[in-house]
Amino acid sequence: MITRRSALGVAVATTGVGLTGAGLAPLVAAHMTAGPATGTAPTALAAAVEKFRRPMRLLPVKRPLGNTGRSDVYVMTMKPARAEILPGIQTDVLTYDGHFPGPVIRARTGRPVVIRQRNRLTVPTAVHLHGASVRPDSDGDPMDVIEPGADRVYHYPNRQSHAPLWFHDHAHHLEAENVYRGLSGSYLLTDDTERSLPLPAGRYEAVIALRDARFDEQGRLVYAMGDRGRNTILTNGVPYPYFEVAARKYRLRLLNASNQRRFELRLADGGPLVQIGSDGGLLPAPHTTDRVLMSAGERADVVVDFSRYPVGSSVVLKNTTGSGPVEEIGEVLRFDVVRTADDPSEIPARLRSLPPLPRPDVEREVALRMDEGGEHPGAYIDEKVYDPGRVDAAVRFGTSEIWTVTNANARAEHNFHMHLVQFRVLERGGRPPEPGETGLKDTVFLAPGETVRLQAVFDTYRGHYVYHCHMFEHGVRGMMATMHIR
Ligand code: C2O
Ligand code: CU
Ligand code: CU
Repeated sequence: MITRRSALGVAVATTGVGLTGAGLAPLVAAHMTAGPATGTAPTALAAAVEKFRRPMRLLPVKRPLGNTGRSDVYVMTMKPARAEILPGIQTDVLTYDGHFPGPVIRARTGRPVVIRQRNRLTVPTAVHLHGASVRPDSDGDPMDVIEPGADRVYHYPNRQSHAPLWFHDHAHHLEAENVYRGLSGSYLLTDDTERSLPLPAGRYEAVIALRDARFDEQGRLVYAMGDRGRNTILTNGVPYPYFEVAARKYRLRLLNASNQRRFELRLADGGPLVQIGSDGGLLPAPHTTDRVLMSAGERADVVVDFSRYPVGSSVVLKNTTGSGPVEEIGEVLRFDVVRTADDPSEIPARLRSLPPLPRPDVEREVALRMDEGGEHPGAYIDEKVYDPGRVDAAVRFGTSEIWTVTNANARAEHNFHMHLVQFRVLERGGRPPEPGETGLKDTVFLAPGETVRLQAVFDTYRGHYVYHCHMFEHGVRGMMATMHIR
C-alpha cells in the first residue's frame, strides 16, 4: 500500500528534470514541515494512489462512421479533455476523441481503414500507426504534421497479417510530451488465421495499455524530459485498478505505452503466463513462462488461466524491473476472481506459420548511443543526431537485410523500432532469441552493451521511413534516423 510519504514523494518534484532520489529528499522534508500548499490536495492524492480501489476500465471500441464499400471510414478528433485518472480529480489530458488513453480500432486484413484525423489541439501532431505497413504519406512521419485546426486523412491498407498495432503521436520534438499527455490508442488488426483459433475472445479478451506517469499535488500530469520519477503506473488510464475476472482463460493484449519505462510482468504467485503473441501477431507456438518483458512500445499477447484460482481469491500482476520505489512501481493491477464460467477456449499447440526468411541481400550495422550524464545529453544513431533531411540507410526495394543493432551504452537501456516492417529477431547477444521473440517484431529491447541481429524484407512500399529508439525521450534527443527504400 502506498504510504502518505511516498505519495507526497510522487507529488512534490514538479520542477526538476530527472531528479534523483537524493535530489528529492530535501524537497520532501521541507514539504512535510511546511505543510501542503493547498488544503486538501495531498490527502486526496494519497488516497488516489491507494491500490486496487477502482475497477479496470475497458477501452472503448471506436465505431466506423460508415464504409465506402471497400473501406471502413473513421473520423477522429484530437482534443484536450479532462479525465478522472485519480478519483475525484480532473486531470487535463490530450486525447483522441476525448478518451484517455485513446480508443481501440478493430480492423481486418484485406479491408482498408481510412481515418480523418482532426487536430483540435494547440500543438502540431502526426499520427503514426505503429507496426503498420503503410505508404509514407500515411505513416505520420515526424516532419509531416497536422497543424492545429487542420485535418488529415490517413490510409491504412491492412495488407499485412493480424497484429496488435497501436497509434500514437509522432510530431517532431513533441511526440514524447504529446504521447505522455494521452495521445495513444490501440488498433487490433485481425485476419482469418487468427480468427480461426479457439482463443479466448469477446468479454474474455481485453486490451491492457500500461504506462507510467507523475502527478503533482493538484493531480496534474507533470511532464519533464527524461523524468525518472514517473512512479504511478496506469492501466488503461487508471492507477492500480482491480480487474474482476471469471475463473477461466483470458486473453490479455498488453501494450507498453510508456515513454521510457520497461516492464517485467509476473503473477505474484509465480503462476504461468502463456505468451501467444508479440508485436507482429501470434507466435508460431505458445510459450509458457513466469514473466513477460515489454520495453516501451512493445506488445505482448498473453493468456492467463484464472481457473487455477478459487473464486473469491485475487492475484496481483507485478512488475519486477525499472526505477522507482517498489511500493509504487512493483504492482500494476490485481485480478479478482469473482465467479466461475464455462471455458470452451483453447490454446492450440501451433498458432501460425511464419514465412521462411529469404537469403539476405545486405547486412548493415547500427549503433545506438546517448551521452550518459550532462545536462542536455545528446542521443545518436551511428554517432549522428537525427536530421530529417538526411538519408541514413539506402535500402533497395524488394530486398532483405540483416541489421545488427548495438546498444553502445554501458548503463543506459535502449530499444529499437523500425517503421514499415515487421522483422524477425535472429540473435540476441549471439544466441537465438527467447521464445517470446520468435514471432514478428517491430520493436526490440537492447540492454546496455547488447547486440541484436534482425532481418527485414522491404517489399511493400517505397519512400522515407524513420527508425529510432522507442524510448521517446531518446528519440526526441536525436536517436532517430531515416531509411529510404527505393
Ligand atoms: Cu511507435 Cu516511430 O513509433
Ligand atoms: Cu512505429
Ligand atoms: Cu534509447
